[in-house]
Amino acid sequence: MIPLFCDCIHFLSCASVAALRRRPLTGHRITGDLMLWVKAFHIIAVICWFAAIFYLPRLFVYHASAEDQVSKDRFVIMERKLYRGIATPSAIATVILGTWLISFNPAYYMSAPWMHAKLMLVVLLLVYHYFCWRILGQFRDGKNTRSHVFYRYFNEVPVFMLLGIVILVVVKPF
Ligand code: HEM
Repeated sequence: MIPLFCDCIHFLSCASVAALRRRPLTGHRITGDLMLWVKAFHIIAVICWFAAIFYLPRLFVYHASAEDQVSKDRFVIMERKLYRGIATPSAIATVILGTWLISFNPAYYMSAPWMHAKLMLVVLLLVYHYFCWRILGQFRDGKNTRSHVFYRYFNEVPVFMLLGIVILVVVKPF
């Protein structure tokens, strides 16, 4: 009875994954399918992380130009919610799912030069993420001394990391 039940569950999970991918059920493709699912959610997490990491310094630009206290207080709340609610959870999800992807074939990924370069850019991105947190605290405590022009340039930094990382993972130039 129990083995029959297990067979049914196994068949249903294979069939549902195969149905989602719209192709016939041929053999055991669960590992490959799982990797594609993990990769899909990795990319979704990356998109959410970048949405937040692009918008947060934009808020810093407006915050640095704000004159009245009501606007400044509102920016503090918006920045905190964006950072804690979206940026940090997405960054954590990106790293966890990326590490999970590596675990499917660690020997290949850890010896690939493009992956080393990618991981270096990811570390720089995490440093940028940390600096956003520091700046957020300075604004909250009313200690910001930088102009909106500085934040306009600061806002462009993650663009280069995004370009580098996506080209490395897709083109794999070396
Ligand atoms: C610690 C962080 C990360 C790790 C360990 C990681 C790891 C991985 C791995 C192993 C793959 C599969 C690559 C392949 O087989 O082609 C992958 C795919 C991908 N990663 Fe990451 N990643 C991380 C962070 C990021 C970040 C920050 C970005 C974006 C800026 C990113 C963008 C992508 C994209 C777009 C793909 C899909 C590539 C494709 O299938 O063509 N990853 N990642």
